Amino acid sequence: MRSDTPLAKITSTGRFLPPQVTTNADLEALVNTTDEWITGRTGIKERRLAEENMSTAQMGASASFDVMAKANLGPNDIDLIILSTATPDRLLPSTACDIQALIGANNAVAFDIGGACSGFLYGLSTAEGYIAAGRADNVLVVASEKMSSIVDWTDRSTCVLFGDGAGACIVQKSEGRKGIIGTHHGSDGKLAELLYRPAGGSLIPSTPESMKAGDHLVKMAGKEVYKHAVRSMTEASQKALEDAGLLGEDVDLLIPHQANMRIIESTARHAGIPMDKVFVNVDRYGNMSSATIPVALDEALEQGILQEGMNVLTVAFGAGLTWGAVVIRW
Ligand code: UT7
Repeated sequence: MRSDTPLAKITSTGRFLPPQVTTNADLEALVNTTDEWITGRTGIKERRLAEENMSTAQMGASASFDVMAKANLGPNDIDLIILSTATPDRLLPSTACDIQALIGANNAVAFDIGGACSGFLYGLSTAEGYIAAGRADNVLVVASEKMSSIVDWTDRSTCVLFGDGAGACIVQKSEGRKGIIGTHHGSDGKLAELLYRPAGGSLIPSTPESMKAGDHLVKMAGKEVYKHAVRSMTEASQKALEDAGLLGEDVDLLIPHQANMRIIESTARHAGIPMDKVFVNVDRYGNMSSATIPVALDEALEQGILQEGMNVLTVAFGAGLTWGAVVIRW
């Protein structure tokens, strides 16, 4: 544990989930799948899908208003906005700047980070760094994902997995020894093509042909990603716990990235954490990419599951490949 520097602490959390619920039965009407397959392979029963005209920035702004109200902070109190998203509204400018404009955070600097599903934890560590350097006091870390806008709705192997939503938190300097006490992050760009969108960027700009071929949509080698997910989440958990000077048995609550129930169970088993200490909502929301952890933190707090003094392990993996874990003494 870092003994001398002040810790950074999540002081409030918020979320926004689009109201429209899409069940597995709804997807049966769209692609050749069954509720039994989706539930058995992933644990997902339903997900939220944003209306066509609801943007990533709007969802992120709604989660931001929620967290600012809970934190008793006004928009002008925010000095840094870090947005994690794999679904920016536009490639230029950053969607964080759109959120800044929507919430009226006129004193903030705003930027996006692209860590895919691990992005919220990357954002948390970036916030921690700004706070440790004395360069920010009230950091708004947002994760907002409109996965429905990049999913191939004709590909049953991916479209059943994802959902839309946004989570947010305020990170501030801790007055005591509560806050972020252990961290580990990693990436492996050699594995980029296991989970990616081939076209739509500067490498292969969108053309009528690439659009027609669906090359701007998510492609995933599910089985390969699954194996890497379990391995990297297990390793990240161990290293972040080591960094915090803790063992698996010291963890009071595990909040894993919610991609697949089987991945969550394997990660918990390898970390030596029983399932009654694991927060799960993948059944209700599916994989909302980087928004899963802040939404889960907010729900766990609201439900009284996450309590002061607990050792909380958060862990994620995603496209890149990227992975990371952050241990928080709440
Ligand atoms: O945040 C990171 C995001 N990525 C992930 O979390 C993905 C990690 N991977 C996974 O979660 C799993 O690999 C999946 C849930 C994607 C797939 O589960 P799996 O047990 O690895 O299944 P599979 O890909 O090996 O497919 C098994 C069978 C195949 O049929 P055949 O070849 O055995 O006849 C697929 O065509 O299941 C078929 N299948 C489906 N059947 C019904 C694939 N998708 C579906 C579907 N409904 N939606």
